[in-house]
Amino acid sequence: MSFDFKNDPFENFLKSYQEAQTKGIPDANAMALSTVDENHKPSVRTVLYKGLINRGFSFYTNYEGRKARDIKSNNNVAALFFWSHLDRQIRIQGTVEKLSREASENYFATRPRLSQLGAWTSNQSEKIESFEIFQKKIDEIDLRFQEKIIPCPPHWGGYRIEPSEIEFWFGKAGRLHERYVYEKTGSGWNRFLRAP
Ligand SMILES: Cc1cc2nc3c(=O)[nH]c(=O)nc-3n(C[C@H](O)[C@H](O)[C@H](O)COP(=O)(O)O)c2cc1C
Repeated sequence: MSFDFKNDPFENFLKSYQEAQTKGIPDANAMALSTVDENHKPSVRTVLYKGLINRGFSFYTNYEGRKARDIKSNNNVAALFFWSHLDRQIRIQGTVEKLSREASENYFATRPRLSQLGAWTSNQSEKIESFEIFQKKIDEIDLRFQEKIIPCPPHWGGYRIEPSEIEFWFGKAGRLHERYVYEKTGSGWNRFLRAP
């Protein structure tokens, strides 16, 4: 892919993402998400990127798990896509905010039933005694909602990352990688290159 630095960063992101999808990159929507807790300790995990919403990178999760707790005390995050077959990395820094209830409910309604049950059952990030006990809870909740539409739990929903910086990294021979950086200014983007 030829990279046009004059383009808007979201346009370039979508082009790259589309390329990753059309070339069959496995789990192209898997995004590493780093948060920092109230004691300044970082942690990282994978979430699924679910599209740009109002020029922000969206994902869905439990609002009471570890990452949500981190976000509550510090909404600065970093996110990363790495597509090895394309030799490409996209780094995002920014702040997160919750999506509207409506957006979360609409997305929740599209999830498979088992994932919906999981969202009701799992106290994400908390200690559990065993997978058997957890499965029992799933079965109970399954019975409770039998034949019914499963509503979006109040403790579950989406976030969007409002980027303050996006870096496109292209792997090149001899480690002379190309790094194209967009840094948010008040009204637009400051563009510059970074040494590999
Ligand atoms: C490929 C992949 C995709 C995942 N997608 C999500 C996701 O979209 N939302 C989510 O809450 N957890 C997702 N997970 C699980 C998280 O990595 C993590 O275990 C979970 O969110 C709990 O993180 P926390 O305890 O730091 O809050 C995914 C894991 C993998 C490996």
